[in-house]
Amino acid sequence: MAAIPRLAVLASGRGSNLQAILDAVAEGRLHARVAGVFGDRHKAFALERARDAGIPAQALRPRDFASRSEFDAALFAAVAAVEPDFIVCAGYMRLLGAEAIAPWEGRIVNIHPSLLPAFKGLDTHARALEAGMAEHGASLHFVSADLDGGPVIAQARVPVLPGDDADALAQRVLAVEHPLMISALELLCTGRIRLRGAAVEFDGQVLQAPLQLAANRLRA
Ligand code: GAR
Repeated sequence: MAAIPRLAVLASGRGSNLQAILDAVAEGRLHARVAGVFGDRHKAFALERARDAGIPAQALRPRDFASRSEFDAALFAAVAAVEPDFIVCAGYMRLLGAEAIAPWEGRIVNIHPSLLPAFKGLDTHARALEAGMAEHGASLHFVSADLDGGPVIAQARVPVLPGDDADALAQRVLAVEHPLMISALELLCTGRIRLRGAAVEFDGQVLQAPLQLAANRLRA
């Protein structure tokens, strides 16, 4: 690993999670360097945020490729070219093929807006409300071929409050997503978190449950 771990960030939209990473790096709270940002649309605001920070940003659009596997191959070739130690999916809204992910096992993570394994996939906030959950949140997990199914590293919880709609709940979750991701990435970048088979190891011990964010700190 490079002395300062290099991150490739994949983002599809507004890029608030990317911004949280850029801010944490700039403020010395995350000991890493963002080596490149990759989107799936030219207009993704995340790409603008990257360029504003002087970071190379590139859009690769699935529709410009003949097949899913060709798209995956091109994306991961572009990602590999910036020589990342870790790939962070920060609001990246595309499925990644098993073959493309395999070489990066243990070095690719995703932030997902639910308390996994609950509510994999899309529209997590509306579905949590519909299910009458008292609690909701976000998870940072290792990416595997199983959609939103890889080993969970850490979670942050928020209450569902009376009168919440999906937007209000999404905002409350987003506020904890950012510190969750930064704290978990710092543990990953400093080698304190590792993937061991299908388990997550923290300081050399297999985690029996995901780390939990409390008062902006992760605890077992
Ligand atoms: C975040 O809430 C992230 O958890 C979610 O998309 C949003 C992106 O926001 N990701 C997924 O749903 C992945 N399946 P951002 O663009 O402001 O970071």
